[in-house]
Amino acid sequence: MAINYTDRIPNNVDLGSNRTLQRALEHWQPEFLKWWEDLGPKDFQVADVYLRTATSVDAKGWATYGYVRMPEYRWGIFLNERDPNRHIGFGDNYGQEVWQQVPGEYRATLRRLIVTQGDTEPASVEQQRMLGHTAPSLYDLRNLFQVNVEEGRHLWAMVYLLHAYFGRDGREEAEELLERHSGDADKPRILGTFNEPIRDWLSFFMFTYFTDRDGKFQLKSLAESSFDPLARTCQFMLTEEAHHMFVGDTGINRVVKRALEVMHELNTDDPQAIRNAGAIDLPTVQKYLNFWFTSSLDLFGSETSSNAASYFANGLKGRPDEAQYEDHVASEQFYELQLPDGHGGTKNEQIPMRNAMNEVTRSSYVRDCEIGVKRWNRLIEKAGLPFRLTLPSTRFRRNIGNWAGVPTTPEGVPISAEQFTAHKDAWLPNESDQAFILSLMHGVFEQGKMAAWIAPADRGINNHPVDYEYVKLH
Ligand SMILES: [Fe+2]
Ligand SMILES: [Fe+2]
Repeated sequence: MAINYTDRIPNNVDLGSNRTLQRALEHWQPEFLKWWEDLGPKDFQVADVYLRTATSVDAKGWATYGYVRMPEYRWGIFLNERDPNRHIGFGDNYGQEVWQQVPGEYRATLRRLIVTQGDTEPASVEQQRMLGHTAPSLYDLRNLFQVNVEEGRHLWAMVYLLHAYFGRDGREEAEELLERHSGDADKPRILGTFNEPIRDWLSFFMFTYFTDRDGKFQLKSLAESSFDPLARTCQFMLTEEAHHMFVGDTGINRVVKRALEVMHELNTDDPQAIRNAGAIDLPTVQKYLNFWFTSSLDLFGSETSSNAASYFANGLKGRPDEAQYEDHVASEQFYELQLPDGHGGTKNEQIPMRNAMNEVTRSSYVRDCEIGVKRWNRLIEKAGLPFRLTLPSTRFRRNIGNWAGVPTTPEGVPISAEQFTAHKDAWLPNESDQAFILSLMHGVFEQGKMAAWIAPADRGINNHPVDYEYVKLH
């Protein structure tokens, strides 16, 4: 169905035919806008930003571009087209018809899954609200705001499901999504990673590469759901999410590229010399990568999970790209985990496949993360340098799961707590690294200019040059 932009709330779900639902969402809309004003990007609400807005849900050409003041962005409800032949793709009900309504017995669980996903969307906007002040260019400023408005739209996507399918409880949950705030002492966001403010652009690029990619895999799992409206919502969110990871991928690429240029100019790989020249040395990039990759790993949950097993059995949340697996029931298979043995070594353990679904998804995520790392390393290799960026082991610095609190090297070798403490500053951003990165953060708002710590992008947005006036400040 075409997107209706004449309604107060743009949508392709024929919202006008359900007046009660429409009224409820129109009641939530001003609360959302107030939240955006209070906790969205600070100080840029009157700027004209060159943004894309969804105009259809087709895989190709779904966006239109133009200057928009962010509070006037047309946030709306867009679901992929319904496939009348879609059947349940996994679990105990494999092959049966998908659900257009929420089955009573799964109501609480599905609501919880939707709320947990929904909570991350506005949380990231809150985490990033000060970043506009220190954007390295207008191009980057625009990309930040594009990510922010789309995370706002992802909140709309989840709120629509809560309002349309979960009655009064759903409406209450939708209100609470605007009441919890990132880092709030009394009402924090649900997941830990989403309560840390993002103060610098290196962290922002790491977040969009690693944490938005966790989002991609969560959405891919939910896009398999037997609850069809949830699946269709997530399918469309994934098309928006791709840009967020692009921002991270190319952002890190440009940081690396700039470091290499400075190393070449100065003919040195001394980190201090690179820093003195105003660029970010590669070992520091590695430390930020270590931090954000490991913090994103925790978002997948424990290696062994009975919740994950029942989500799979009941068809609520599947494996990303379920079609690639041969056995969609997975009731007889096992998965081998390597766990800490409690004596500084490891032991192998076989667990039922269904209980290992978090680990299955985490492994696909790690493989996806490697693609960017390879690309960044190709740049370094081309420059003739031996340095390589690497993803740390999934055992390193974990706070959730079997490896939580078990000190290891970045390679995943168990070590003593003393050894970990002794090396921590070399493995993770320490205070002086953070102070250095923050010292580089100054807004560059002049058209065509770029901060010294990052190389210009290879190409601009929507065929415009990189030095286009992507944000008109007033
Ligand atoms: Fe999102
Ligand atoms: Fe995102």
